[in-house]
Amino acid sequence: MTQAAGSTTRGARLLEFDAAALAAAYRAHAPIAVEHGLADQPLLTLEAIADLADWLPRDCVICDTPDQPLLVPEGGPPRGSEPRPGDVIRHLEVRRSWLTLLNIEQQPAYRELMDACLDQIAAVVEHRPGDMRRRVGFIFVSSPLSVTPAHFDIEHSLLLQISGQKELTVGHFATAAVERRECERYWEGSHGRVEDLPLVEVTHDMVPGRGVYLPPIRPHWVINSDAVTLSMTLTFFSADSERDQFVEAFNARLRRFRVHPRPPGRSLAVDEVKATAMRTWGLRRRLTGRHEESTHY
Ligand SMILES: [Fe+2]
Repeated sequence: MTQAAGSTTRGARLLEFDAAALAAAYRAHAPIAVEHGLADQPLLTLEAIADLADWLPRDCVICDTPDQPLLVPEGGPPRGSEPRPGDVIRHLEVRRSWLTLLNIEQQPAYRELMDACLDQIAAVVEHRPGDMRRRVGFIFVSSPLSVTPAHFDIEHSLLLQISGQKELTVGHFATAAVERRECERYWEGSHGRVEDLPLVEVTHDMVPGRGVYLPPIRPHWVINSDAVTLSMTLTFFSADSERDQFVEAFNARLRRFRVHPRPPGRSLAVDEVKATAMRTWGLRRRLTGRHEESTHY
């Protein structure tokens, strides 16, 4: 790869945001827009991303059709189907496709870039050192007019538009019961793709330099403009969101035995026991290391 040369980002101030407003949004589990200076970053040109796609392990590159409906409730996209995904990226105008690069932090220059951004966020949102954990970076590249179906992610997410333009619509579930059902479907293999279109809350015009922080479990979908678009999403868990997802995973296992456990948030003591059990039993693959089953969009 060539992009590592001269691309030091350690300690750089790459994001611009109102710290008090971000802290308040984070506490309120609300989305908030930010600005960034990554559009001219040499690591994030289409050619650099094409090189990165060829460098990453094949199972870290998802290629899917760009022509999708907003609702695809069953399962996530295929993975590792392109022998030379970089070539797809280099010719996206004619080879219509929708690609996600997973775990870009495997490449040291991208890890540095990710950390430079998330260190800025951590300085504002962390309750205590180490509260931000399991940092993971993703790149999304897609053909003109691509659609990313409605879904939610279980991580905190920072969506950063690098080139091209698209509309990011953020919604909310119609009722608490719908949200609960969707959280349970996630652990049954839905990958967060929802059954019904959520209620629209706001649509962000994602142009280069624009970013959005999204809390966990916040449904959203994306419609590209008539140009190739490239974006980077950086994700993390907090101690609280990690515990909640351990509880969800624990509960999903109980439901297989026709037990109907309490969802997270009802009793901190019970939640801690469940989360500890999951850690102790070593059943946390979904939350640790690579996103082998949790597919971010
Ligand atoms: Fe997403």
